[in-house]
Amino acid sequence: MIKLLSHLSYVAITTPDVEASVKFYEEQVGLQVVDRIDGAVYLRCWGDYYRYSVVVVPGDEPALETAAWRTTSPEALEEAVRRLEAEGVEGEWFEGHAIGRAYRFVGPQGHRMTLHWDVEHYVSGADQASIYPDRPARRSSHAGAPRQLDHVTIAARDVDAFVEWYVRVLGFRFMARTVLDEAPISVFSVLTTNEKSHDLGVVLDGSDRDGRINHYAFWVDTREELLIAADVLMENGTPIEYGPNIHGIGEQTFLYYREPSSLRIELNTGGYRNYVPDWEANTWRPSQGSNNFYRNGAMPMSMTESFPPANGPSATEEGVPDEIKEALLNPYAVQGRG
Ligand SMILES: [Fe+2]
Repeated sequence: MIKLLSHLSYVAITTPDVEASVKFYEEQVGLQVVDRIDGAVYLRCWGDYYRYSVVVVPGDEPALETAAWRTTSPEALEEAVRRLEAEGVEGEWFEGHAIGRAYRFVGPQGHRMTLHWDVEHYVSGADQASIYPDRPARRSSHAGAPRQLDHVTIAARDVDAFVEWYVRVLGFRFMARTVLDEAPISVFSVLTTNEKSHDLGVVLDGSDRDGRINHYAFWVDTREELLIAADVLMENGTPIEYGPNIHGIGEQTFLYYREPSSLRIELNTGGYRNYVPDWEANTWRPSQGSNNFYRNGAMPMSMTESFPPANGPSATEEGVPDEIKEALLNPYAVQGRG
């Protein structure tokens, strides 16, 4: 298969209070509003190469409106759509803001995705121009402002089936997965279109709702900036849900917090590069530090919440044996682990 996708280009999310979310992204995260069209607000990080990387859309609940992927060429876009439709996917072509002709579809577990080749590269005004030719705009003066969008992590009821489909149909590389120590249950996997450990993550969803998102993530250049961002969030009264810490899988430094809709945002920096075309995904156990490199900090229960909120039992609520709940949330607490 030719390489079809090059990277995650933007994430569109819904929120019940667009202005509250936008204010948060501007004042606490350090993003910039570039466009307002039909109620949707388009934002960018200072280093994003395209016009926008985040779209905030009015909606009843916090949710994933779409995750958009830029293809590697116009031909790759046509080939990707041909492959999707051969799988029985019924998507549609549309004209997107600053992305031209694009194709949107719903994947087999209900996730709304968009593919496009055309895109408007960002050109700043003179007041924001960088002195460096490769930068689309000058570095933000906002402390801890992310440089770029990084990845999206969705929630799916069948993690392995999600991975199999996106690898086979769209050519994602499967990089790593986590299976519980106690039972053969896949709770997390990472996929990538490029050299990053992941630009698409998937966590186990025990709810009865399709197409949910667990979080999406921005990138900062250094761990120092991530710690400054943590400081800014704390000073602004925004709780940090988990971290700063380091993931075992990917080896990124991370922290998680929530935007006003309750949707989870992550900041990432560091981690490895992996360009190996025939990489074989390793299976990690939670006790090996898949989520927490130092194996010493239990993930808070709240991290299992995905969006929109579940109607039925979630993966950590009813229907899941207590030992699996414990394994998922605090794998280091169980005796006898190496
Ligand atoms: Fe993440």
